[in-house]
Amino acid sequence: MCRSKMKPPSGQGIRLACLLGLASLCLPTPLWEDRDSLMQEEEARLTGGNLVLSTQEQQLSMKLISLKKKEVAAALNTGQFPPSMHFFRAKSLIEQSAVFSILKRMPKGAVLHLHDYAMLSVDWLVYNATYLPDCYICFTQTGTVRFRFSKPHPPHPVPAQCSQWVLLETYRKQLRNVTEFDHSLLRNLTLVTDAPELAYPSQAFIWKRFEEVFLIASGLICYAPVFKAYFYQGLLELYEDNIQYVEIRAILPAVYELDGTQHNKSWSVAAYQEVSRRFVQEHPDFLGAKVIFAAHRMLNVSQIKETIITAMELRAHFPDTLAGFDLVGNEDEGHSLWEFKDVLTIPYSLRANLPYFFHAGETDWQGTSVDNNVLDALLLNTSRIGHGLALTKHPVAKNLSLKRDIPVEVCPISNQVLLLVSDLRSHPAASLMAEGHPVVVSPDDPSIFGAKGVSYDFYEVFMAIGGMNADLRTLKQLALNSIKYSAMLLDEKAKAREVWQKKWDQFVADLTDSSLMEL
Ligand SMILES: *[C@@H]1O[C@H](CO)[C@@H](O)[C@H](O)[C@H]1NC(C)=O
Ligand SMILES: *[C@@H]1O[C@H](CO)[C@@H](O)[C@H](O)[C@H]1NC(C)=O
Ligand SMILES: *[C@@H]1O[C@H](CO)[C@@H](O)[C@H](O)[C@H]1NC(C)=O
Ligand SMILES: *[C@@H]1O[C@H](CO)[C@@H](O)[C@H](O)[C@H]1NC(C)=O
Ligand SMILES: *[C@@H]1O[C@H](CO)[C@@H](O)[C@H](O)[C@H]1NC(C)=O
Ligand SMILES: *[C@@H]1O[C@H](CO)[C@@H](O)[C@H](O)[C@H]1NC(C)=O
Ligand SMILES: *[C@@H]1O[C@H](CO)[C@@H](O)[C@H](O)[C@H]1NC(C)=O
Ligand SMILES: [Zn+2]
Repeated sequence: MCRSKMKPPSGQGIRLACLLGLASLCLPTPLWEDRDSLMQEEEARLTGGNLVLSTQEQQLSMKLISLKKKEVAAALNTGQFPPSMHFFRAKSLIEQSAVFSILKRMPKGAVLHLHDYAMLSVDWLVYNATYLPDCYICFTQTGTVRFRFSKPHPPHPVPAQCSQWVLLETYRKQLRNVTEFDHSLLRNLTLVTDAPELAYPSQAFIWKRFEEVFLIASGLICYAPVFKAYFYQGLLELYEDNIQYVEIRAILPAVYELDGTQHNKSWSVAAYQEVSRRFVQEHPDFLGAKVIFAAHRMLNVSQIKETIITAMELRAHFPDTLAGFDLVGNEDEGHSLWEFKDVLTIPYSLRANLPYFFHAGETDWQGTSVDNNVLDALLLNTSRIGHGLALTKHPVAKNLSLKRDIPVEVCPISNQVLLLVSDLRSHPAASLMAEGHPVVVSPDDPSIFGAKGVSYDFYEVFMAIGGMNADLRTLKQLALNSIKYSAMLLDEKAKAREVWQKKWDQFVADLTDSSLMEL
Protein backbone atom coordinates (compact mmCIF):
# COMPACT_ATOMS: atom_id res chain seq x y z
CA MET A 1 0.00 0.00 0.00
CA CYS A 2 2.95 2.28 0.65
CA ARG A 3 4.71 1.44 -2.61
CA SER A 4 3.83 4.78 -4.11
CA LYS A 5 5.32 6.61 -1.16
CA MET A 6 8.54 4.69 -1.52
CA LYS A 7 9.21 5.70 -5.08
CA PRO A 8 11.83 8.41 -5.25
CA PRO A 9 10.32 11.83 -5.88
CA SER A 10 10.06 12.66 -9.53
CA GLY A 11 10.30 15.80 -11.62
CA GLN A 12 10.49 18.93 -9.52
CA GLY A 13 11.24 16.92 -6.39
CA ILE A 14 14.30 15.24 -7.81
CA ARG A 15 15.68 18.40 -9.27
CA LEU A 16 15.20 20.20 -5.99
CA ALA A 17 16.77 17.35 -4.01
CA CYS A 18 19.76 17.28 -6.34
CA LEU A 19 20.15 21.01 -6.04
CA LEU A 20 20.17 20.63 -2.28
CA GLY A 21 22.90 18.02 -2.59
CA LEU A 22 20.87 15.01 -1.54
CA ALA A 23 22.70 12.76 -3.97
CA SER A 24 20.85 9.56 -3.11
CA LEU A 25 17.56 11.06 -4.21
CA CYS A 26 19.00 11.83 -7.65
CA LEU A 27 19.31 8.14 -8.33
CA PRO A 28 16.11 6.46 -9.41
CA THR A 29 17.08 3.32 -7.44
CA PRO A 30 14.54 1.19 -5.57
CA LEU A 31 16.46 2.05 -2.41
CA TRP A 32 13.38 2.39 -0.21
CA GLU A 33 11.27 -0.24 -1.86
CA ASP A 34 11.49 -2.71 1.00
CA ARG A 35 11.45 -0.27 3.88
CA ASP A 36 7.88 -0.80 4.98
CA SER A 37 7.94 -4.55 4.71
CA LEU A 38 11.25 -4.69 6.58
CA MET A 39 9.82 -2.57 9.33
CA GLN A 40 6.76 -4.75 9.49
CA GLU A 41 8.94 -7.80 9.68
CA GLU A 42 10.80 -6.32 12.63
CA GLU A 43 7.61 -5.32 14.39
CA ALA A 44 6.21 -8.82 14.01
CA ARG A 45 9.22 -10.20 15.84
CA LEU A 46 8.79 -8.04 18.95
CA THR A 47 7.44 -10.00 21.92
CA GLY A 48 3.72 -10.40 21.18
CA GLY A 49 4.12 -9.19 17.61
CA ASN A 50 2.16 -12.14 16.27
CA LEU A 51 -0.80 -11.90 18.63
CA VAL A 52 -4.08 -10.77 17.12
CA LEU A 53 -6.11 -8.53 19.41
CA SER A 54 -9.88 -8.25 19.62
CA THR A 55 -11.45 -4.88 18.84
CA GLN A 56 -11.80 -4.15 22.52
CA GLU A 57 -8.20 -5.13 23.19
CA GLN A 58 -7.07 -2.91 20.33
CA GLN A 59 -8.87 0.02 21.94
CA LEU A 60 -7.12 -0.56 25.22
CA SER A 61 -3.83 -1.04 23.42
CA MET A 62 -4.17 2.31 21.68
CA LYS A 63 -5.06 3.92 24.98
CA LEU A 64 -1.96 2.46 26.60
CA ILE A 65 0.28 3.59 23.76
CA SER A 66 -1.11 7.09 23.91
CA LEU A 67 -0.61 7.19 27.70
CA LYS A 68 2.94 5.96 27.20
CA LYS A 69 3.63 8.68 24.64
CA LYS A 70 2.19 11.29 26.97
CA GLU A 71 4.38 10.14 29.84
CA VAL A 72 7.46 10.06 27.65
CA ALA A 73 6.69 13.57 26.37
CA ALA A 74 6.26 14.79 29.95
CA ALA A 75 9.54 13.11 30.88
CA LEU A 76 11.33 14.90 28.07
CA ASN A 77 10.07 18.16 29.53
CA THR A 78 11.07 17.46 33.11
CA GLY A 79 14.20 15.51 32.22
CA GLN A 80 12.97 12.71 34.48
CA PHE A 81 12.20 9.47 32.69
CA PRO A 82 11.66 6.89 35.48
CA PRO A 83 13.28 3.90 33.71
CA SER A 84 16.42 5.98 33.16
CA MET A 85 16.55 6.88 36.86
CA HIS A 86 17.57 4.74 39.79
CA PHE A 87 14.51 2.88 41.01
CA PHE A 88 14.82 4.34 44.53
CA ARG A 89 14.27 7.79 43.03
CA ALA A 90 11.91 6.66 40.25
CA LYS A 91 9.51 4.78 42.52
CA SER A 92 7.38 7.72 43.59
CA LEU A 93 7.19 8.96 39.98
CA ILE A 94 6.13 5.50 38.80
CA GLU A 95 3.38 5.48 41.41
CA GLN A 96 1.90 8.62 39.86
CA SER A 97 1.84 7.08 36.38
CA ALA A 98 -1.45 6.22 34.69
CA VAL A 99 0.29 3.41 32.81
CA PHE A 100 1.42 1.96 36.13
CA SER A 101 -2.08 2.05 37.57
CA ILE A 102 -3.28 0.00 34.59
CA LEU A 103 -0.39 -2.44 34.89
CA LYS A 104 -1.24 -2.99 38.54
CA ARG A 105 -4.77 -3.96 37.56
CA MET A 106 -3.63 -6.21 34.72
CA PRO A 107 -3.73 -9.96 35.46
CA LYS A 108 -0.06 -10.81 34.99
CA GLY A 109 -0.13 -14.60 35.18
CA ALA A 110 2.80 -16.17 37.00
CA VAL A 111 5.82 -14.79 38.79
CA LEU A 112 8.64 -17.24 38.13
CA HIS A 113 11.69 -15.63 39.72
CA LEU A 114 11.25 -14.56 43.31
CA HIS A 115 13.27 -15.35 46.42
CA ASP A 116 11.92 -16.89 49.61
CA TYR A 117 12.77 -14.09 52.08
CA ALA A 118 12.21 -11.16 49.77
CA MET A 119 8.63 -11.65 48.65
CA LEU A 120 6.72 -9.54 51.17
CA SER A 121 7.07 -5.83 51.98
CA VAL A 122 9.23 -5.46 55.07
CA ASP A 123 6.58 -3.41 56.88
CA TRP A 124 4.91 -6.65 57.87
CA LEU A 125 8.15 -7.99 59.36
CA VAL A 126 8.73 -4.85 61.41
CA TYR A 127 5.18 -3.92 62.44
CA ASN A 128 3.91 -7.44 62.88
CA ALA A 129 6.68 -10.02 63.38
CA THR A 130 8.97 -7.98 65.64
CA TYR A 131 5.99 -7.16 67.88
CA LEU A 132 5.30 -10.82 68.59
CA PRO A 133 6.23 -12.02 72.12
CA ASP A 134 9.70 -13.46 72.83
CA CYS A 135 11.45 -11.54 70.05
CA TYR A 136 15.07 -10.67 70.86
CA ILE A 137 17.39 -8.28 69.05
CA CYS A 138 21.13 -7.77 69.08
CA PHE A 139 23.22 -5.02 67.55
CA THR A 140 26.22 -5.74 65.33
CA GLN A 141 29.42 -3.71 65.20
CA THR A 142 28.65 -2.74 61.62
CA GLY A 143 25.43 -0.91 62.43
CA THR A 144 22.93 -3.65 61.66
CA VAL A 145 20.87 -6.03 63.79
CA ARG A 146 20.01 -9.71 64.27
CA PHE A 147 16.75 -11.20 65.54
CA ARG A 148 15.88 -14.35 67.42
CA PHE A 149 12.69 -15.69 68.98
CA SER A 150 13.27 -17.72 72.09
CA LYS A 151 11.86 -18.91 75.37
CA PRO A 152 13.74 -19.05 77.68
CA HIS A 153 16.28 -16.26 77.04
CA PRO A 154 18.40 -17.33 74.04
CA PRO A 155 22.01 -18.50 74.51
CA HIS A 156 24.75 -16.00 73.72
CA PRO A 157 24.94 -14.84 70.11
CA VAL A 158 27.93 -15.66 67.94
CA PRO A 159 30.38 -13.10 69.40
CA ALA A 160 31.74 -12.16 65.97
CA GLN A 161 28.23 -11.12 64.98
CA CYS A 162 26.88 -9.15 67.90
CA SER A 163 27.02 -8.44 71.60
CA GLN A 164 23.99 -9.74 73.47
CA TRP A 165 20.33 -10.56 73.02
CA VAL A 166 17.88 -7.97 74.37
CA LEU A 167 14.15 -8.59 74.59
CA LEU A 168 12.60 -6.20 72.05
CA GLU A 169 9.56 -5.52 74.19
CA THR A 170 11.77 -4.29 77.03
CA TYR A 171 14.06 -2.44 74.66
CA ARG A 172 11.21 -0.56 72.99
CA LYS A 173 9.82 0.48 76.41
CA GLN A 174 12.90 2.47 77.28
CA LEU A 175 13.15 4.20 73.91
CA ARG A 176 12.16 7.86 73.55
CA ASN A 177 11.03 7.46 69.96
CA VAL A 178 9.82 4.01 68.93
CA THR A 179 8.69 5.25 65.49
CA GLU A 180 12.22 6.28 64.70
CA PHE A 181 13.57 2.94 65.91
CA ASP A 182 11.07 1.00 63.79
CA HIS A 183 12.13 3.05 60.78
CA SER A 184 15.72 2.00 61.43
CA LEU A 185 14.59 -1.64 61.41
CA LEU A 186 12.84 -1.07 58.07
CA ARG A 187 16.13 0.33 56.73
CA ASN A 188 17.99 -2.74 57.99
CA LEU A 189 15.71 -4.94 55.92
CA THR A 190 16.01 -3.18 52.55
CA LEU A 191 18.66 -1.58 50.36
CA VAL A 192 16.55 1.54 49.95
CA THR A 193 18.38 4.84 50.50
CA ASP A 194 18.25 8.42 49.19
CA ALA A 195 21.71 8.35 47.66
CA PRO A 196 22.31 4.84 46.30
CA GLU A 197 25.39 5.90 44.29
CA LEU A 198 27.13 7.01 47.47
CA ALA A 199 25.89 4.18 49.65
CA TYR A 200 26.79 1.41 47.19
CA PRO A 201 29.98 2.26 45.32
CA SER A 202 30.57 -1.19 43.81
CA GLN A 203 28.91 -4.49 42.98
CA ALA A 204 30.97 -6.37 45.56
CA PHE A 205 29.92 -3.81 48.17
CA ILE A 206 26.20 -3.88 47.43
CA TRP A 207 26.18 -7.69 47.28
CA LYS A 208 27.66 -7.81 50.78
CA ARG A 209 24.91 -5.57 52.11
CA PHE A 210 22.32 -7.49 50.06
CA GLU A 211 23.28 -10.82 51.61
CA GLU A 212 23.35 -9.17 55.03
CA VAL A 213 19.71 -8.17 54.53
CA PHE A 214 18.84 -11.85 54.06
CA LEU A 215 20.70 -12.70 57.26
CA ILE A 216 18.84 -10.02 59.21
CA ALA A 217 15.47 -11.12 57.85
CA SER A 218 16.16 -14.82 58.38
CA GLY A 219 16.22 -14.48 62.19
CA LEU A 220 12.60 -13.39 61.96
CA ILE A 221 11.38 -15.50 59.05
CA CYS A 222 12.97 -18.77 60.20
CA TYR A 223 10.85 -18.77 63.35
CA ALA A 224 8.22 -21.41 62.54
CA PRO A 225 5.04 -19.35 63.18
CA VAL A 226 6.51 -16.37 61.30
CA PHE A 227 7.72 -18.63 58.48
CA LYS A 228 4.18 -19.73 57.69
CA ALA A 229 2.57 -16.35 58.26
CA TYR A 230 5.22 -14.61 56.13
CA PHE A 231 4.58 -16.97 53.23
CA TYR A 232 0.83 -16.54 53.53
CA GLN A 233 1.12 -12.75 53.62
CA GLY A 234 3.59 -12.93 50.72
CA LEU A 235 1.09 -14.84 48.60
CA LEU A 236 -1.53 -12.30 49.56
CA GLU A 237 0.64 -9.42 48.41
CA LEU A 238 1.21 -11.14 45.06
CA TYR A 239 -2.49 -11.93 44.76
CA GLU A 240 -3.31 -8.28 45.39
CA ASP A 241 -0.89 -7.34 42.61
CA ASN A 242 -3.01 -9.48 40.25
CA ILE A 243 -0.62 -12.40 40.03
CA GLN A 244 -2.13 -15.88 39.72
CA TYR A 245 0.72 -18.23 40.56
CA VAL A 246 4.28 -18.15 41.87
CA GLU A 247 7.51 -20.16 41.92
CA ILE A 248 9.91 -19.26 44.70
CA ARG A 249 13.64 -19.92 44.92
CA ALA A 250 14.07 -21.24 48.47
CA ILE A 251 17.27 -21.95 50.37
CA LEU A 252 15.33 -23.99 52.95
CA PRO A 253 17.50 -23.16 55.98
CA ALA A 254 16.54 -24.67 59.32
CA VAL A 255 13.28 -23.29 60.66
CA TYR A 256 13.26 -23.12 64.49
CA GLU A 257 10.80 -23.21 67.36
CA LEU A 258 10.76 -21.12 70.53
CA ASP A 259 12.68 -23.79 72.48
CA GLY A 260 15.42 -23.94 69.85
CA THR A 261 14.22 -27.14 68.14
CA GLN A 262 15.18 -27.07 64.46
CA HIS A 263 13.27 -28.49 61.53
CA ASN A 264 14.83 -29.97 58.41
CA LYS A 265 14.26 -29.14 54.77
CA SER A 266 11.37 -31.57 54.35
CA TRP A 267 9.51 -29.70 57.06
CA SER A 268 9.96 -26.40 55.22
CA VAL A 269 8.75 -27.78 51.88
CA ALA A 270 5.76 -29.35 53.65
CA ALA A 271 5.05 -25.98 55.29
CA TYR A 272 5.17 -24.18 51.93
CA GLN A 273 2.84 -26.81 50.52
CA GLU A 274 0.40 -26.58 53.39
CA VAL A 275 0.25 -22.76 53.39
CA SER A 276 -0.07 -22.60 49.63
CA ARG A 277 -2.95 -25.11 49.69
CA ARG A 278 -4.70 -23.20 52.45
CA PHE A 279 -4.25 -19.96 50.51
CA VAL A 280 -5.71 -21.50 47.34
CA GLN A 281 -8.64 -22.81 49.33
CA GLU A 282 -9.37 -19.31 50.54
CA HIS A 283 -8.59 -17.71 47.15
CA PRO A 284 -9.80 -20.13 44.47
CA ASP A 285 -8.72 -17.75 41.70
CA PHE A 286 -5.09 -18.23 42.77
CA LEU A 287 -3.35 -21.30 41.35
CA GLY A 288 -0.75 -21.92 44.03
CA ALA A 289 2.99 -22.01 44.48
CA LYS A 290 5.93 -24.27 43.74
CA VAL A 291 9.39 -24.25 45.27
CA ILE A 292 12.74 -24.27 43.47
CA PHE A 293 15.30 -25.45 46.00
CA ALA A 294 18.39 -23.24 45.79
CA ALA A 295 21.90 -23.64 47.16
CA HIS A 296 24.49 -20.89 47.53
CA ARG A 297 27.12 -20.95 44.80
CA MET A 298 29.87 -20.18 47.32
CA LEU A 299 29.51 -23.71 48.72
CA ASN A 300 32.20 -26.20 47.70
CA VAL A 301 31.79 -29.16 45.41
CA SER A 302 31.14 -31.70 48.15
CA GLN A 303 28.54 -29.47 49.79
CA ILE A 304 26.79 -28.99 46.45
CA LYS A 305 26.87 -32.72 45.94
CA GLU A 306 25.04 -33.15 49.24
CA THR A 307 22.41 -30.56 48.32
CA ILE A 308 21.88 -32.22 44.92
CA ILE A 309 21.18 -35.50 46.68
CA THR A 310 18.81 -33.73 49.10
CA ALA A 311 17.15 -32.02 46.14
CA MET A 312 16.49 -35.38 44.49
CA GLU A 313 15.02 -36.70 47.75
CA LEU A 314 12.79 -33.65 48.15
CA ARG A 315 11.69 -33.86 44.54
CA ALA A 316 10.76 -37.51 45.06
CA HIS A 317 8.78 -36.71 48.22
CA PHE A 318 7.09 -33.55 46.97
CA PRO A 319 6.73 -33.98 43.21
CA ASP A 320 3.87 -31.46 43.01
CA THR A 321 5.56 -28.77 45.06
CA LEU A 322 9.31 -29.07 44.55
CA ALA A 323 9.88 -28.00 40.96
CA GLY A 324 13.64 -28.28 40.78
CA PHE A 325 17.03 -26.88 41.72
CA ASP A 326 19.05 -23.68 41.32
CA LEU A 327 22.23 -21.96 42.53
CA VAL A 328 22.05 -18.47 44.04
CA GLY A 329 24.37 -15.73 45.29
CA ASN A 330 26.71 -13.32 43.55
CA GLU A 331 27.67 -15.08 40.34
CA ASP A 332 30.88 -13.08 39.88
CA GLU A 333 32.22 -14.24 43.24
CA GLY A 334 30.78 -17.75 43.38
CA HIS A 335 31.72 -20.95 41.62
CA SER A 336 30.86 -21.32 37.96
CA LEU A 337 28.53 -24.08 36.77
CA TRP A 338 31.51 -25.63 35.03
CA GLU A 339 33.27 -26.07 38.38
CA PHE A 340 30.22 -28.00 39.61
CA LYS A 341 29.76 -30.04 36.43
CA ASP A 342 30.57 -33.40 38.00
CA VAL A 343 27.95 -33.06 40.73
CA LEU A 344 25.33 -31.27 38.63
CA THR A 345 25.25 -34.23 36.24
CA ILE A 346 24.54 -36.74 39.04
CA PRO A 347 20.75 -36.67 38.51
CA TYR A 348 21.26 -37.22 34.78
CA SER A 349 23.55 -40.20 35.31
CA LEU A 350 21.09 -41.65 37.83
CA ARG A 351 18.22 -41.01 35.44
CA ALA A 352 16.58 -39.06 38.25
CA ASN A 353 14.29 -36.21 37.34
CA LEU A 354 15.59 -32.94 38.78
CA PRO A 355 14.78 -29.96 36.55
CA TYR A 356 17.21 -27.03 36.75
CA PHE A 357 16.28 -23.35 36.86
CA PHE A 358 19.70 -21.74 36.88
CA HIS A 359 20.55 -18.14 37.58
CA ALA A 360 23.06 -17.64 34.77
CA GLY A 361 24.68 -14.67 33.12
CA GLU A 362 23.91 -12.20 35.93
CA THR A 363 27.22 -10.54 35.16
CA ASP A 364 28.72 -7.70 33.17
CA TRP A 365 32.10 -9.45 32.87
CA GLN A 366 32.40 -10.83 29.38
CA GLY A 367 34.77 -13.71 28.76
CA THR A 368 35.19 -14.82 32.40
CA SER A 369 34.53 -18.37 33.56
CA VAL A 370 31.27 -17.14 35.10
CA ASP A 371 30.28 -15.53 31.79
CA ASN A 372 30.10 -19.06 30.34
CA ASN A 373 27.34 -19.97 32.79
CA VAL A 374 24.64 -19.19 30.21
CA LEU A 375 26.02 -21.80 27.84
CA ASP A 376 26.67 -24.34 30.60
CA ALA A 377 23.18 -23.83 32.02
CA LEU A 378 21.76 -24.74 28.61
CA LEU A 379 24.06 -27.75 28.32
CA LEU A 380 22.80 -28.84 31.74
CA ASN A 381 19.29 -28.67 30.31
CA THR A 382 18.09 -25.72 32.36
CA SER A 383 14.33 -25.09 32.07
CA ARG A 384 14.76 -21.32 32.27
CA ILE A 385 17.63 -18.83 32.54
CA GLY A 386 17.58 -16.50 35.55
CA HIS A 387 18.62 -12.97 34.42
CA GLY A 388 20.69 -14.06 31.41
CA LEU A 389 22.14 -10.58 30.93
CA ALA A 390 25.15 -12.20 29.28
CA LEU A 391 23.08 -14.13 26.75
CA THR A 392 23.14 -11.44 24.06
CA LYS A 393 26.94 -11.66 24.03
CA HIS A 394 26.81 -15.39 23.24
CA PRO A 395 25.22 -15.86 19.82
CA VAL A 396 25.57 -19.63 19.83
CA ALA A 397 24.13 -20.03 23.33
CA LYS A 398 21.34 -17.66 22.35
CA ASN A 399 20.53 -19.77 19.31
CA LEU A 400 20.46 -22.81 21.53
CA SER A 401 18.04 -21.25 24.00
CA LEU A 402 15.86 -20.09 21.12
CA LYS A 403 15.87 -23.54 19.53
CA ARG A 404 15.01 -25.23 22.83
CA ASP A 405 12.47 -22.54 23.68
CA ILE A 406 14.18 -21.66 26.98
CA PRO A 407 12.99 -18.31 28.35
CA VAL A 408 15.03 -15.67 30.11
CA GLU A 409 13.66 -14.43 33.44
CA VAL A 410 14.11 -10.66 33.12
CA CYS A 411 14.31 -8.77 36.43
CA PRO A 412 14.93 -5.13 35.47
CA ILE A 413 14.78 -3.45 38.88
CA SER A 414 17.05 -6.04 40.46
CA ASN A 415 19.59 -5.62 37.66
CA GLN A 416 19.56 -1.87 38.08
CA VAL A 417 19.81 -1.84 41.88
CA LEU A 418 22.58 -4.44 41.83
CA LEU A 419 24.53 -2.23 39.40
CA LEU A 420 24.45 -4.37 36.26
CA VAL A 421 22.69 -1.76 34.13
CA SER A 422 21.75 1.80 34.97
CA ASP A 423 19.43 3.16 32.26
CA LEU A 424 16.83 0.45 31.66
CA ARG A 425 16.42 1.47 28.01
CA SER A 426 19.82 -0.19 27.54
CA HIS A 427 18.90 -3.41 29.32
CA PRO A 428 20.10 -6.40 27.23
CA ALA A 429 16.55 -7.79 27.26
CA ALA A 430 15.62 -4.95 24.88
CA SER A 431 17.34 -6.85 22.09
CA LEU A 432 15.91 -10.19 23.25
CA MET A 433 12.41 -8.73 23.17
CA ALA A 434 13.01 -7.07 19.82
CA GLU A 435 13.78 -10.43 18.27
CA GLY A 436 11.05 -12.31 20.10
CA HIS A 437 13.32 -14.44 22.24
CA PRO A 438 11.12 -16.02 24.95
CA VAL A 439 11.18 -13.91 28.11
CA VAL A 440 9.20 -13.59 31.32
CA VAL A 441 9.19 -10.62 33.70
CA SER A 442 10.04 -11.16 37.36
CA PRO A 443 10.78 -9.09 40.45
CA ASP A 444 13.63 -11.18 42.01
CA ASP A 445 13.65 -9.54 45.48
CA PRO A 446 10.95 -6.85 45.46
CA SER A 447 10.84 -6.22 49.20
CA ILE A 448 14.57 -5.53 49.38
CA PHE A 449 14.34 -3.02 46.54
CA GLY A 450 11.30 -1.30 48.06
CA ALA A 451 9.01 -2.66 45.34
CA LYS A 452 5.94 -4.85 45.65
CA GLY A 453 4.72 -7.67 43.41
CA VAL A 454 5.81 -7.45 39.77
CA SER A 455 3.96 -4.34 38.53
CA TYR A 456 6.97 -2.05 38.91
CA ASP A 457 9.06 -4.39 36.76
CA PHE A 458 6.27 -4.55 34.18
CA TYR A 459 6.32 -0.76 34.10
CA GLU A 460 10.07 -0.72 33.32
CA VAL A 461 9.58 -3.35 30.62
CA PHE A 462 6.59 -1.65 29.03
CA MET A 463 8.01 1.88 29.12
CA ALA A 464 11.65 1.21 28.34
CA ILE A 465 12.84 -2.31 27.57
CA GLY A 466 10.06 -3.02 25.06
CA GLY A 467 10.43 0.46 23.59
CA MET A 468 7.71 2.64 22.13
CA ASN A 469 6.36 -0.23 20.04
CA ALA A 470 5.51 -2.45 22.99
CA ASP A 471 1.73 -2.46 23.25
CA LEU A 472 -0.99 -4.61 24.78
CA ARG A 473 0.13 -7.53 22.60
CA THR A 474 3.52 -7.42 24.33
CA LEU A 475 1.93 -7.36 27.76
CA LYS A 476 -0.44 -10.16 26.90
CA GLN A 477 2.38 -12.27 25.50
CA LEU A 478 4.41 -11.73 28.67
CA ALA A 479 1.50 -12.93 30.80
CA LEU A 480 0.93 -15.93 28.51
CA ASN A 481 4.66 -16.70 28.59
CA SER A 482 4.67 -16.73 32.37
CA ILE A 483 2.15 -19.54 32.40
CA LYS A 484 3.65 -21.41 29.47
CA TYR A 485 7.19 -21.45 30.91
CA SER A 486 6.17 -22.23 34.48
CA ALA A 487 6.84 -25.59 36.09
CA MET A 488 3.11 -26.29 36.31
CA LEU A 489 1.95 -29.63 34.91
CA LEU A 490 -0.06 -29.61 31.70
CA ASP A 491 -3.44 -29.78 33.44
CA GLU A 492 -2.36 -27.12 35.95
CA LYS A 493 -1.34 -24.90 33.05
CA ALA A 494 -4.65 -25.42 31.32
CA LYS A 495 -6.48 -24.39 34.48
CA ALA A 496 -4.17 -21.41 34.93
CA ARG A 497 -4.81 -20.28 31.36
CA GLU A 498 -8.53 -20.50 31.97
CA VAL A 499 -8.47 -18.54 35.23
CA TRP A 500 -6.13 -15.97 33.73
CA GLN A 501 -8.20 -15.57 30.54
CA LYS A 502 -11.32 -14.85 32.53
CA LYS A 503 -9.54 -12.18 34.52
CA TRP A 504 -7.95 -10.79 31.36
CA ASP A 505 -11.31 -10.44 29.60
CA GLN A 506 -12.70 -8.69 32.66
CA PHE A 507 -9.68 -6.39 32.82
CA VAL A 508 -10.03 -5.44 29.16
CA ALA A 509 -13.77 -4.91 29.54
CA ASP A 510 -13.34 -2.77 32.68
CA LEU A 511 -10.68 -0.61 31.13
CA THR A 512 -12.41 0.01 27.86
CA ASP A 513 -15.44 1.15 29.80
CA SER A 514 -15.95 4.71 28.57
CA SER A 515 -15.53 6.38 31.93
CA LEU A 516 -12.16 4.78 32.48
CA MET A 517 -10.97 5.72 29.03
CA GLU A 518 -10.74 9.26 30.38
CA LEU A 519 -7.76 8.24 32.50
C1 LIG B 1 19.71 -0.95 61.79
O1 LIG B 1 19.08 -0.73 63.04
C2 LIG B 1 19.95 -0.22 64.02
C3 LIG B 1 19.18 -0.19 65.32
O2 LIG B 1 18.20 0.77 65.35
C4 LIG B 1 20.41 1.17 63.61
O3 LIG B 1 21.32 1.67 64.55
C5 LIG B 1 21.11 1.06 62.25
O4 LIG B 1 21.40 2.35 61.78
C6 LIG B 1 20.21 0.37 61.25
N1 LIG B 1 21.00 0.08 60.06
C7 LIG B 1 20.67 0.56 58.86
C8 LIG B 1 21.50 0.11 57.71
O5 LIG B 1 19.74 1.30 58.68
C1 LIG C 1 9.91 10.30 66.21
O1 LIG C 1 10.57 10.00 64.99
C2 LIG C 1 9.78 10.24 63.86
C3 LIG C 1 10.52 9.67 62.65
O2 LIG C 1 11.85 10.06 62.63
C4 LIG C 1 9.48 11.71 63.76
O3 LIG C 1 8.68 11.95 62.62
C5 LIG C 1 8.74 12.12 65.01
O4 LIG C 1 8.54 13.53 65.00
C6 LIG C 1 9.51 11.75 66.25
N1 LIG C 1 8.67 11.98 67.42
C7 LIG C 1 9.08 12.64 68.48
C8 LIG C 1 8.12 12.73 69.60
O5 LIG C 1 10.20 13.10 68.56
C1 LIG D 1 -0.09 -9.90 62.06
O1 LIG D 1 -0.31 -10.78 60.97
C2 LIG D 1 -1.32 -11.75 61.22
C3 LIG D 1 -1.42 -12.60 60.01
O2 LIG D 1 -0.27 -13.29 59.82
C4 LIG D 1 -2.63 -11.09 61.50
O3 LIG D 1 -3.57 -12.07 61.85
C5 LIG D 1 -2.48 -10.10 62.60
O4 LIG D 1 -3.67 -9.39 62.73
C6 LIG D 1 -1.35 -9.15 62.32
N1 LIG D 1 -1.16 -8.29 63.43
C7 LIG D 1 -0.98 -7.01 63.31
C8 LIG D 1 -0.77 -6.27 64.59
O5 LIG D 1 -0.95 -6.45 62.24
C1 LIG E 1 13.52 -34.75 57.77
O1 LIG E 1 13.16 -35.51 58.88
C2 LIG E 1 12.23 -36.54 58.60
C3 LIG E 1 11.91 -37.27 59.90
O2 LIG E 1 11.86 -36.42 60.95
C4 LIG E 1 12.77 -37.51 57.58
O3 LIG E 1 11.79 -38.45 57.25
C5 LIG E 1 13.18 -36.76 56.33
O4 LIG E 1 13.80 -37.61 55.41
C6 LIG E 1 14.13 -35.62 56.68
N1 LIG E 1 14.35 -34.83 55.48
C7 LIG E 1 15.55 -34.45 55.08
C8 LIG E 1 15.63 -33.68 53.81
O5 LIG E 1 16.56 -34.71 55.68
C1 LIG F 1 33.79 -28.14 51.95
O1 LIG F 1 33.35 -27.32 53.01
C2 LIG F 1 33.11 -28.03 54.20
C3 LIG F 1 32.48 -27.08 55.20
O2 LIG F 1 33.16 -25.86 55.25
C4 LIG F 1 34.42 -28.63 54.68
O3 LIG F 1 34.22 -29.37 55.87
C5 LIG F 1 34.98 -29.55 53.61
O4 LIG F 1 36.25 -30.03 53.98
C6 LIG F 1 35.09 -28.82 52.28
N1 LIG F 1 35.39 -29.78 51.26
C7 LIG F 1 36.26 -29.57 50.29
C8 LIG F 1 36.46 -30.66 49.30
O5 LIG F 1 36.87 -28.53 50.22
C1 LIG G 1 15.99 -32.19 29.76
O1 LIG G 1 14.78 -31.69 30.35
C2 LIG G 1 13.62 -32.27 29.85
C3 LIG G 1 12.45 -31.54 30.45
O2 LIG G 1 12.63 -31.26 31.80
C4 LIG G 1 13.64 -33.77 30.16
O3 LIG G 1 12.53 -34.35 29.61
C5 LIG G 1 14.92 -34.39 29.60
O4 LIG G 1 15.01 -35.73 29.97
C6 LIG G 1 16.15 -33.67 30.08
N1 LIG G 1 17.34 -34.19 29.48
C7 LIG G 1 18.52 -34.25 30.11
C8 LIG G 1 19.67 -34.72 29.30
O5 LIG G 1 18.66 -33.91 31.26
C1 LIG H 1 21.64 -19.05 14.66
O1 LIG H 1 20.62 -19.73 13.97
C2 LIG H 1 20.33 -19.19 12.71
C3 LIG H 1 19.12 -19.89 12.14
O2 LIG H 1 18.94 -21.14 12.70
C4 LIG H 1 21.56 -19.32 11.81
O3 LIG H 1 21.30 -18.77 10.56
C5 LIG H 1 22.73 -18.60 12.47
O4 LIG H 1 23.90 -18.80 11.72
C6 LIG H 1 22.93 -19.08 13.87
N1 LIG H 1 23.93 -18.25 14.50
C7 LIG H 1 24.89 -18.73 15.25
C8 LIG H 1 25.84 -17.74 15.82
O5 LIG H 1 24.99 -19.92 15.48
ZN1 LIG I 1 17.42 -14.22 41.78
